[in-house]
Amino acid sequence: MDGISFDPGGREEGVAAAARLLAHKERILVFTGAGISTESGIPDFRGPDGVWTRVDPAEFTYSRFLANPDTRRRSWQMRKESGILEAEPNRAHRALVTLWEIGRMLAVVTQNIDGLHQKAGLPARVVVELHGNAHQAVCVACRAKVPTGEVLDRVAAGEDDPDCTACGGILKPDVVLFEEAMPILETDRAMHLAYEADAVISIGSTLGVFPAAFVPIRAIETGASFVIVNMGPTELDDLADVLIAGPAGEVVPDLVAALTRSTPR
Ligand code: APR
Repeated sequence: MDGISFDPGGREEGVAAAARLLAHKERILVFTGAGISTESGIPDFRGPDGVWTRVDPAEFTYSRFLANPDTRRRSWQMRKESGILEAEPNRAHRALVTLWEIGRMLAVVTQNIDGLHQKAGLPARVVVELHGNAHQAVCVACRAKVPTGEVLDRVAAGEDDPDCTACGGILKPDVVLFEEAMPILETDRAMHLAYEADAVISIGSTLGVFPAAFVPIRAIETGASFVIVNMGPTELDDLADVLIAGPAGEVVPDLVAALTRSTPR
């Protein structure tokens, strides 16, 4: 598809073009990445100040996390300092709740681990978390789950590499680390949603990490319209029908307001 590219100044035209394209779409799949949460204070990964511009992702692979206590110590310390558990949803997250409430959204498939879609008010059944959720930790040995807040309390109290209180195994955040297998149920459900969707809106993602980025690609392959909302370029810009360059916290509420106007009462 030839993407119609709008510069930041052309945001209004981009929103109007997307609203026209999506006016009669009833099964909109929303695909989100870290960029939808930066306005909630959570850094993204590949943007100008992203996490991977300061930290080498190769240091935090699954195998490194299991093998190296120093990797685990740094990981828990970064988690504690990130403030991710205390972050609040922003206007973009809340606008997606409206899109759900007016009956236009199939679901949200998110790469994010911050739980902000649910915190904004989306029912958990409507959110597919491909990369897990930072609010939980899991024992790699006995699979026991524990709230991350409790683990971080132990870190704050001086246990810099807390182990599982049930079996003594290694605790890790219940999120997908590089080289770790994707959750089978969530991945399968996301791909089915991609086939069901008649439109996909990607918000705040560089769309370069797989298999997650297959979700919008699968939807396009079955004829879905494709809108990208992002501050910077993405790997799938050439496949988009409409590209809107702008902050999610402004663009998404404007787009949802336009779609609300085109939704039969
Ligand atoms: N509004 C719109 N776009 C934004 C905003 C914003 N407020 N803030 C940042 N962005 C853009 C950035 O410019 C960047 O292009 O969002 C994009 C975020 O891309 P990434 O940092 O690559 O995040 P994401 O696509 O979610 O990464 C996918 O990679 O590291 C792994 O597991 C991690 O889930 C993550 C996956």
